Amino acid sequence: MDQANREVWNVQEALRSFPVRAPHSHKGSHGKGVVIGGSYHMPGSIAMTAKAALRSGIGLLAIATSKSSIPMIAPYLQEATFQSLQEEDGWIRNLKNVDWSAFDGVAIGMGIRRSTSLTAQMDELFTHANGPMIIDADGIYHIKEKLDKCAGYPHPVILTPHPGEFAYLTDCSIAEVMQFPFSMTRNFAKANGVYVVLKGPSTIITTPEGQQRVETSGNEGLAKGGSGDVLSGILLALTLQSSSVFDALANGCLVHGKTAERLTKTTHSTFDLLATDLIDGLSETFRTFS
Ligand code: APR
Ligand code: MG
Repeated sequence: MDQANREVWNVQEALRSFPVRAPHSHKGSHGKGVVIGGSYHMPGSIAMTAKAALRSGIGLLAIATSKSSIPMIAPYLQEATFQSLQEEDGWIRNLKNVDWSAFDGVAIGMGIRRSTSLTAQMDELFTHANGPMIIDADGIYHIKEKLDKCAGYPHPVILTPHPGEFAYLTDCSIAEVMQFPFSMTRNFAKANGVYVVLKGPSTIITTPEGQQRVETSGNEGLAKGGSGDVLSGILLALTLQSSSVFDALANGCLVHGKTAERLTKTTHSTFDLLATDLIDGLSETFRTFS
């Protein structure tokens, strides 16, 4: 791997840079986020992202999801508000009903599918969204044709691919991504003016200027569907609460990985750990940073 001279992120760095919740703060101080995704077929994805964002200190959270998903997930998310999106066969069809003005940050892509109509809708995002934008999972598929818009968006654009998604974005093989993860993500981030969080047993975080950090916490207990959805929620919440996006991303990955490490040494194993356990485990991790 091409890994010389990268900053390795650790607990000491996190403690130095973790956001502080001011005693006199109010909910508006901690970010008003919207998570967009989910479907009748994958309702849990967006529910986990939302719950993780709520457990990570976000001030207000809305879930914009397919109409038929709302009754399925609402009982688990009493603190969230909902925006009902038009659907087709249970999948989100467009982003027309999102009330963009109410939010200062967005995470999109969890539990959606690859469809031409949604790719066209990504223009809505760049025109109307406010604040940092996290694009994950099939959102990454939809952004591929719109990459030229990222640099012109006036706030940070953060892509969170796993190696397969990054290979798709760059028209390379997964083997090439695994061989040159640092140079490929750096070149891509600089060329498109985006942050990239390339996920895996080691996660590489890259700024639009090409600065890079490696975050190595976590273990094979995370190698399960849903872990990535949880990470997106943590990243949204910390990005809205931090003065530095780079610090927020590194700290979010560390919180995610350290939670898995602790849980698999205490109440769980790497076999049985679920993404939802991870969300419940965030409480104790955050206590060590506050
Ligand atoms: N060690 C440490 N961390 C790991 C490990 C490991 N062995 N395996 C996975 N992780 C972490 C990654 O760093 C990342 O934060 O778990 C998370 C996995 O995220 P994703 O790969 O995005 O997984 P997720 O989205 O939850 O599930 C797979 O992705 O390819 C799509 O549609 C597919 O639904 C599927 C989904
Ligand atoms: Mg994923």
